[in-house]
Amino acid sequence: MAVSPSCINSKLYADNGTLFISYERVQLLDANGKPIKASSLKKETNYVFNYPFVSTPVILLDLDEPTLKDVKLKSEDGEEYIWKGGVGSKGTIVAYVAICSHQLAHPTPEDSFLQYCQKDKKTMSYKEGGVMVCSSHLSAFDVKSGCKNLSGPAEEPLASVILEIDKDDTIWASAVLGPDKFHEYFKAFKPELKKFYGGKRKGKKKIKNSATLLPLTEYTKEIVQY
Ligand code: FES
Repeated sequence: MAVSPSCINSKLYADNGTLFISYERVQLLDANGKPIKASSLKKETNYVFNYPFVSTPVILLDLDEPTLKDVKLKSEDGEEYIWKGGVGSKGTIVAYVAICSHQLAHPTPEDSFLQYCQKDKKTMSYKEGGVMVCSSHLSAFDVKSGCKNLSGPAEEPLASVILEIDKDDTIWASAVLGPDKFHEYFKAFKPELKKFYGGKRKGKKKIKNSATLLPLTEYTKEIVQY
């Protein structure tokens, strides 16, 4: 369901709403089904949950410093939208759809070529760490600015997932903002959807009520980062 941006807590998320899609509001739980508290997240650690579909991975990060705010971004076809910034008490928590805007590389249960590279690590994709890196063809994205494309062949940002932190410190996902690539993803990875989720139709099921948040090291067997 596409929602007019003016309806979302009076905040402007997109100029005309077409790059903002509201989905079911779901709570992030740990592997034992317990609610994750925002204050329990480890800094600069790659966490993954699937949202808004059972097969679409999202990377969640608690960064070591606050993000920028109200960042104006543009999709490859020129559509502008505004990313409001990180959430949590210090504005450091962000979530991005982990499907590369270049050729759709993404974390799977087998391997991951797309993840955040910590600040103290080096990457061939960019002059410094502290960025989201896709090691398929070496693209880098700015996690502090709505995952804007910084370098490499990717020509648009990664889409972001709108998070809300409730008063009790629980974390909820409620919408996707930006060029999300879901359509291309479902088309391109039919065999993979069958292998991991039992088929395309099952992989396209929407997440309901809650999503499990795991460290990337538990979500996937092999992390590939250049
Ligand atoms: S698929 Fe990510 S850079 Fe090519």
